[in-house]
Amino acid sequence: MSNSGPIGFFDSGVGGTSIWKEVIKLLPSENTIYLADSKNAPYGEKPVEEIIALSKKNNEKLLEMGSKLIVVACNTATTKAIEFLRSNYPVPFLGIEPAIKPAALKTKSGIIGILATKGTLSSALFSRTSELYSANIKRIEVVGNGLVAKIEEGQHNTPEMEVLLRALLKPMLEVKIDYLVLGCSHYPYLLPVLKRIFPEDVTIIDSGEAVARQTQRVLEMNSLFNLSDKIPDHQLYT
Ligand code: DGL
Repeated sequence: MSNSGPIGFFDSGVGGTSIWKEVIKLLPSENTIYLADSKNAPYGEKPVEEIIALSKKNNEKLLEMGSKLIVVACNTATTKAIEFLRSNYPVPFLGIEPAIKPAALKTKSGIIGILATKGTLSSALFSRTSELYSANIKRIEVVGNGLVAKIEEGQHNTPEMEVLLRALLKPMLEVKIDYLVLGCSHYPYLLPVLKRIFPEDVTIIDSGEAVARQTQRVLEMNSLFNLSDKIPDHQLYT
Protein backbone atom coordinates (compact mmCIF):
# COMPACT_ATOMS: atom_id res chain seq x y z
CA MET A 1 0.00 0.00 0.00
CA SER A 2 1.67 3.23 -1.09
CA ASN A 3 0.78 6.81 -0.13
CA SER A 4 0.54 7.79 -3.78
CA GLY A 5 -1.87 4.90 -4.47
CA PRO A 6 -5.40 5.98 -5.38
CA ILE A 7 -8.45 6.12 -3.15
CA GLY A 8 -10.79 3.50 -4.63
CA PHE A 9 -14.55 4.00 -4.87
CA PHE A 10 -17.28 1.66 -6.00
CA ASP A 11 -21.03 1.82 -6.44
CA SER A 12 -23.64 0.00 -8.49
CA GLY A 13 -23.44 2.85 -11.00
CA VAL A 14 -23.05 6.61 -11.30
CA GLY A 15 -24.51 7.39 -7.86
CA GLY A 16 -21.28 7.18 -5.91
CA THR A 17 -19.83 10.03 -7.98
CA SER A 18 -21.89 12.26 -5.66
CA ILE A 19 -19.51 11.09 -2.90
CA TRP A 20 -16.38 11.00 -5.09
CA LYS A 21 -16.80 14.66 -6.11
CA GLU A 22 -16.92 15.78 -2.46
CA VAL A 23 -13.79 13.75 -1.68
CA ILE A 24 -11.74 15.22 -4.52
CA LYS A 25 -12.96 18.71 -3.56
CA LEU A 26 -11.73 18.30 0.03
CA LEU A 27 -8.59 16.29 -0.85
CA PRO A 28 -7.37 17.73 -4.16
CA SER A 29 -3.93 16.05 -3.97
CA GLU A 30 -5.30 12.52 -3.94
CA ASN A 31 -5.40 10.13 -6.91
CA THR A 32 -8.69 8.27 -7.31
CA ILE A 33 -10.25 5.32 -9.13
CA TYR A 34 -14.02 5.06 -9.43
CA LEU A 35 -15.72 1.83 -10.40
CA ALA A 36 -19.37 1.83 -11.48
CA ASP A 37 -20.79 -1.70 -11.65
CA SER A 38 -23.39 -0.56 -14.18
CA LYS A 39 -23.84 -4.08 -15.54
CA ASN A 40 -25.36 -5.17 -12.23
CA ALA A 41 -27.21 -1.97 -11.22
CA PRO A 42 -29.42 -1.55 -9.33
CA TYR A 43 -28.25 -3.31 -6.16
CA GLY A 44 -31.19 -2.11 -4.03
CA GLU A 45 -33.38 -5.21 -4.27
CA LYS A 46 -30.69 -7.88 -4.60
CA PRO A 47 -30.22 -10.55 -1.92
CA VAL A 48 -27.42 -10.03 0.56
CA GLU A 49 -25.27 -12.92 -0.80
CA GLU A 50 -25.28 -11.34 -4.25
CA ILE A 51 -24.38 -7.89 -2.93
CA ILE A 52 -21.47 -9.40 -0.97
CA ALA A 53 -20.25 -11.28 -4.07
CA LEU A 54 -20.45 -8.14 -6.24
CA SER A 55 -18.78 -5.99 -3.58
CA LYS A 56 -15.96 -8.54 -3.28
CA LYS A 57 -15.40 -8.44 -7.03
CA ASN A 58 -15.44 -4.62 -7.19
CA ASN A 59 -13.13 -4.40 -4.22
CA GLU A 60 -10.60 -6.85 -5.65
CA LYS A 61 -10.47 -4.90 -8.90
CA LEU A 62 -9.78 -1.68 -6.99
CA LEU A 63 -7.08 -3.35 -4.87
CA GLU A 64 -5.48 -4.84 -7.99
CA MET A 65 -5.19 -1.25 -9.27
CA GLY A 66 -3.30 -0.26 -6.10
CA SER A 67 -6.01 1.40 -3.97
CA LYS A 68 -4.77 2.38 -0.51
CA LEU A 69 -8.23 3.00 0.93
CA ILE A 70 -11.68 1.95 -0.28
CA VAL A 71 -14.81 4.08 -0.11
CA VAL A 72 -17.92 1.95 -0.48
CA ALA A 73 -19.84 4.78 -2.16
CA CYS A 74 -23.11 2.88 -1.96
CA ASN A 75 -25.46 2.73 1.03
CA THR A 76 -26.82 -0.65 0.01
CA ALA A 77 -23.38 -2.28 -0.29
CA THR A 78 -22.30 -0.63 2.96
CA THR A 79 -25.21 -2.06 4.91
CA LYS A 80 -24.85 -5.55 3.41
CA ALA A 81 -21.16 -6.04 2.70
CA ILE A 82 -18.84 -3.71 4.61
CA GLU A 83 -18.41 -6.08 7.56
CA PHE A 84 -17.37 -8.83 5.16
CA LEU A 85 -14.92 -6.51 3.38
CA ARG A 86 -13.42 -5.23 6.63
CA SER A 87 -12.77 -8.71 7.91
CA ASN A 88 -11.26 -10.02 4.67
CA TYR A 89 -8.99 -7.32 3.27
CA PRO A 90 -6.10 -5.42 4.88
CA VAL A 91 -7.00 -1.86 3.80
CA PRO A 92 -9.12 0.77 5.55
CA PHE A 93 -12.76 0.89 4.40
CA LEU A 94 -15.21 3.72 4.61
CA GLY A 95 -18.90 3.24 4.07
CA ILE A 96 -21.93 5.49 3.79
CA GLU A 97 -25.04 5.48 5.88
CA PRO A 98 -28.14 7.69 5.72
CA ALA A 99 -27.43 10.91 7.68
CA ILE A 100 -30.16 10.30 10.26
CA LYS A 101 -28.19 11.72 13.17
CA PRO A 102 -27.96 15.38 12.01
CA ALA A 103 -31.60 15.32 10.85
CA ALA A 104 -32.79 13.87 14.16
CA LEU A 105 -30.79 16.40 16.16
CA LYS A 106 -32.00 19.42 14.21
CA THR A 107 -35.63 18.64 13.43
CA LYS A 108 -38.15 21.08 14.90
CA SER A 109 -41.30 19.40 13.64
CA GLY A 110 -40.13 16.04 15.07
CA ILE A 111 -40.84 14.33 11.73
CA ILE A 112 -38.09 13.44 9.27
CA GLY A 113 -38.25 11.69 5.92
CA ILE A 114 -35.78 9.05 4.72
CA LEU A 115 -35.60 8.04 1.08
CA ALA A 116 -33.43 4.96 0.42
CA THR A 117 -33.36 1.58 -1.29
CA LYS A 118 -35.23 -1.43 0.06
CA GLY A 119 -31.86 -3.04 0.86
CA THR A 120 -30.78 -0.11 3.03
CA LEU A 121 -34.09 0.43 4.83
CA SER A 122 -34.43 -3.27 5.65
CA SER A 123 -30.88 -3.67 6.95
CA ALA A 124 -29.81 -4.36 10.52
CA LEU A 125 -27.32 -1.47 10.33
CA PHE A 126 -30.08 0.97 9.42
CA SER A 127 -32.34 -0.27 12.25
CA ARG A 128 -29.49 0.12 14.74
CA THR A 129 -28.61 3.64 13.60
CA SER A 130 -32.19 4.83 13.42
CA GLU A 131 -33.04 3.42 16.86
CA LEU A 132 -29.94 5.02 18.32
CA TYR A 133 -30.54 8.53 16.98
CA SER A 134 -34.21 8.84 16.24
CA ALA A 135 -36.07 6.75 18.78
CA ASN A 136 -38.10 9.78 19.93
CA ILE A 137 -39.03 11.28 16.60
CA LYS A 138 -41.25 10.13 13.78
CA ARG A 139 -39.55 8.74 10.69
CA ILE A 140 -41.31 8.47 7.37
CA GLU A 141 -39.34 5.92 5.35
CA VAL A 142 -39.89 5.57 1.63
CA VAL A 143 -38.29 3.01 -0.72
CA GLY A 144 -37.16 4.76 -3.91
CA ASN A 145 -38.66 2.16 -6.26
CA GLY A 146 -37.52 2.72 -9.85
CA LEU A 147 -35.35 5.77 -9.12
CA VAL A 148 -31.86 4.29 -9.55
CA ALA A 149 -32.66 2.76 -12.96
CA LYS A 150 -33.95 6.13 -14.23
CA ILE A 151 -30.92 8.00 -12.86
CA GLU A 152 -28.63 5.47 -14.55
CA GLU A 153 -30.43 6.27 -17.83
CA GLY A 154 -29.81 9.99 -17.30
CA GLN A 155 -33.54 10.58 -16.68
CA HIS A 156 -33.02 12.33 -13.34
CA ASN A 157 -34.48 15.73 -14.16
CA THR A 158 -37.49 15.01 -16.37
CA PRO A 159 -41.26 15.63 -15.99
CA GLU A 160 -41.71 11.81 -15.64
CA MET A 161 -39.27 11.79 -12.73
CA GLU A 162 -41.20 14.58 -11.05
CA VAL A 163 -44.47 12.61 -11.41
CA LEU A 164 -42.81 9.47 -10.02
CA LEU A 165 -41.26 11.33 -7.08
CA ARG A 166 -44.48 13.16 -6.19
CA ALA A 167 -46.26 9.81 -6.01
CA LEU A 168 -43.51 8.09 -3.99
CA LEU A 169 -43.05 10.97 -1.58
CA LYS A 170 -46.75 11.56 -0.91
CA PRO A 171 -46.49 10.15 2.65
CA MET A 172 -43.82 12.78 3.40
CA LEU A 173 -45.68 15.61 1.69
CA GLU A 174 -48.83 14.89 3.67
CA VAL A 175 -47.11 15.45 7.02
CA LYS A 176 -44.80 18.28 8.03
CA ILE A 177 -41.33 16.79 7.63
CA ASP A 178 -38.63 19.44 7.96
CA TYR A 179 -35.65 17.21 7.05
CA LEU A 180 -35.33 14.83 4.14
CA VAL A 181 -32.42 12.38 4.36
CA LEU A 182 -31.16 10.99 1.05
CA GLY A 183 -30.06 7.47 1.92
CA CYS A 184 -28.77 6.41 -1.48
CA SER A 185 -25.74 7.90 -3.21
CA HIS A 186 -27.70 8.20 -6.48
CA TYR A 187 -30.32 10.52 -5.01
CA PRO A 188 -28.31 13.79 -4.80
CA TYR A 189 -28.82 13.85 -8.60
CA LEU A 190 -32.54 14.32 -7.86
CA LEU A 191 -31.97 17.57 -5.97
CA PRO A 192 -33.31 19.92 -8.68
CA VAL A 193 -36.60 17.97 -8.80
CA LEU A 194 -36.79 17.48 -5.02
CA LYS A 195 -36.38 21.23 -4.54
CA ARG A 196 -39.38 21.81 -6.81
CA ILE A 197 -41.47 19.29 -4.88
CA PHE A 198 -40.72 20.22 -1.26
CA PRO A 199 -41.31 23.62 0.35
CA GLU A 200 -38.20 25.75 0.91
CA ASP A 201 -38.13 25.12 4.64
CA VAL A 202 -37.49 21.41 4.16
CA THR A 203 -33.74 20.77 4.44
CA ILE A 204 -32.42 17.99 2.22
CA ILE A 205 -29.27 16.26 3.41
CA ASP A 206 -26.97 13.66 1.92
CA SER A 207 -23.77 12.02 3.12
CA GLY A 208 -21.21 13.37 0.60
CA GLU A 209 -19.45 16.03 2.70
CA ALA A 210 -19.46 13.91 5.86
CA VAL A 211 -17.86 11.00 3.99
CA ALA A 212 -15.22 13.35 2.55
CA ARG A 213 -14.33 14.60 6.06
CA GLN A 214 -14.19 11.03 7.34
CA THR A 215 -11.94 10.04 4.42
CA GLN A 216 -9.58 12.85 5.42
CA ARG A 217 -9.53 11.60 9.05
CA VAL A 218 -8.87 8.00 8.00
CA LEU A 219 -5.99 9.05 5.72
CA GLU A 220 -4.53 11.06 8.57
CA MET A 221 -4.88 8.27 11.13
CA ASN A 222 -3.16 5.82 8.79
CA SER A 223 -0.51 8.33 7.58
CA LEU A 224 -1.74 7.79 4.04
CA PHE A 225 -1.90 11.32 2.58
CA ASN A 226 -0.45 11.56 -0.92
CA LEU A 227 2.71 13.62 -0.58
CA SER A 228 3.72 13.47 -4.24
CA ASP A 229 3.73 16.75 -6.17
CA LYS A 230 2.53 15.14 -9.44
CA ILE A 231 -0.81 16.31 -10.85
CA PRO A 232 -3.41 13.92 -9.41
CA ASP A 233 -4.95 11.33 -11.66
CA HIS A 234 -8.65 10.35 -11.67
CA GLN A 235 -9.77 7.19 -13.44
CA LEU A 236 -13.46 6.35 -13.87
CA TYR A 237 -14.51 2.90 -15.04
CA THR A 238 -17.85 1.40 -15.83
N1 DGL B 1 -26.19 4.08 -4.96
C1 DGL B 1 -26.52 2.93 -4.23
C2 DGL B 1 -26.94 3.20 -2.82
O1 DGL B 1 -26.45 4.16 -2.29
C3 DGL B 1 -27.13 1.80 -4.97
C4 DGL B 1 -28.56 1.85 -5.28
C5 DGL B 1 -28.94 0.69 -6.14
O2 DGL B 1 -28.10 0.23 -6.91
O3 DGL B 1 -30.08 0.27 -6.01
O4 DGL B 1 -27.70 2.49 -2.21
